Amino acid sequence: MEKSDIGLIGLAVMGANLARNISGKGFTTLVFNRTVEKMTRYIEEFGNDHLSGKENIEQFVTSLSSPRKIIIMVKAGDPVDEVIQQLIPLLEKNDTVIDCGNSHYHDTIRRSTELQAHGIHFMGCGVSGGEEGALHGPSLMPGGSVECWELMKPVWESIAAKDFSGAPCVSHIGEDGAGHYVKMVHNGIEYAVMQMIAEAYDLLKKAYGLSPDQVADIFDRYGKGKLESYLFEIAVPVLRRKDDEGDGYLIDVILDKAGQKGTGKWTGRDALDRGVSLSTITESVFARINSSEKNLRSVLSKHFQKSNFKTNVSLEEFSRQLESGLYGGMLSAYTQGFELIKKAAEENSWAINLSEIARIWQGGCIIRAKILQFLTEAYKSSEKENPFLLELKEIQNSINSALPDWRAIVSISIQSGIPTPGLTSALQYIDAMTTERLPANLIQGLRDYFGAHSYERTDKKGTFHTDWI
Ligand code: 6PG
Repeated sequence: MEKSDIGLIGLAVMGANLARNISGKGFTTLVFNRTVEKMTRYIEEFGNDHLSGKENIEQFVTSLSSPRKIIIMVKAGDPVDEVIQQLIPLLEKNDTVIDCGNSHYHDTIRRSTELQAHGIHFMGCGVSGGEEGALHGPSLMPGGSVECWELMKPVWESIAAKDFSGAPCVSHIGEDGAGHYVKMVHNGIEYAVMQMIAEAYDLLKKAYGLSPDQVADIFDRYGKGKLESYLFEIAVPVLRRKDDEGDGYLIDVILDKAGQKGTGKWTGRDALDRGVSLSTITESVFARINSSEKNLRSVLSKHFQKSNFKTNVSLEEFSRQLESGLYGGMLSAYTQGFELIKKAAEENSWAINLSEIARIWQGGCIIRAKILQFLTEAYKSSEKENPFLLELKEIQNSINSALPDWRAIVSISIQSGIPTPGLTSALQYIDAMTTERLPANLIQGLRDYFGAHSYERTDKKGTFHTDWI
């Protein structure tokens, strides 16, 4: 019997759709699932010449052509290690195991080292795009050796989404944990972008009294302009949806508590460890945490003064300013995310290309957006490798033209008492990074006063301490 090209373990919705995508592109795909009935039902429904399943893992492994390429798509964490432990005794040297889940990159580095000791290759591949993406074209962020990349390249390139120029949204990110690292930061940016979209909705709703449908009309317009993106596109039907169980809009009865699986928190924590400023992503994680305190917020809302500020800016003018502010906010969040990737790449010796990362996020993934085409080109046109975006003329021009509107909407939000931690922190990041003299001199003075921590001077080199008392 002919052996299959690719093996895939884990038939929850992402794995199930990925296997259909791969087999649909002509690669014979063999699937395995811990619960056999799930596999049997899946094959009954979707099985064909290119897509079949095996009931036991030994048969599954021996039915794959060598060197074997096995994709694992199970819940991140222990389940990945359990599957790897089951596979190790069955695999041969030069086989490749590919983890396509949302694994932490530290785990990916550890697993790479462990499998390397057995002569087995390991690839940690970030996959973004949710269920639809897995089926019709995700954005793929594979990390691992160049050898593995070359082996999987034809598969990845044929199943990936396309960027704005029609090229596949996949690129070799770098060694070991690089792919999962970049996927983690992608998710962090996803948090920031969603937070700013939610803030825009809140401002339009509370400062202007708009209905969900009216906000959707404005977002629909945004989604056709410079804010063109998947998240703005899907915000429109989410806002317009009527509640099947009542008269009003579904959005009005969805509880305002945001969930999180942890990748945003990982990103924030990693930024703190590396000393990279990532305020907008981190604020977005905190905003979700604040939202989860629903009961406490309900009680406290009765004890604090409400703002009675009413803006006299027309809705037309405000929605124009908001579009501009959101654009600035997105540029700021991307800048922070890319800087984090750059620092991690330096510290882990990953040969990362930021222009390529912006390019493969143009399609398929949750943060896909027109702005990423702009960023791809900006990175590409720079003479410096992986420059700081704020140093590039085109980014400076875009941010400068957004700034007045951005300040206007943030100040309306502050005066109205409508929390906008995403838009505000994004602006504060720009303000801080473009201020020549910050008040850190006073912080240094205080530190030296109470703890003799020393300070540097503006007029001569060296470290100084003053006897303050
Ligand atoms: C993607 C998504 C995906 C998932 C997030 C949700 O790129 O396809 O990011 O990975 O939807 O993990 O994360 P939260 O539950 O933390 O919002």
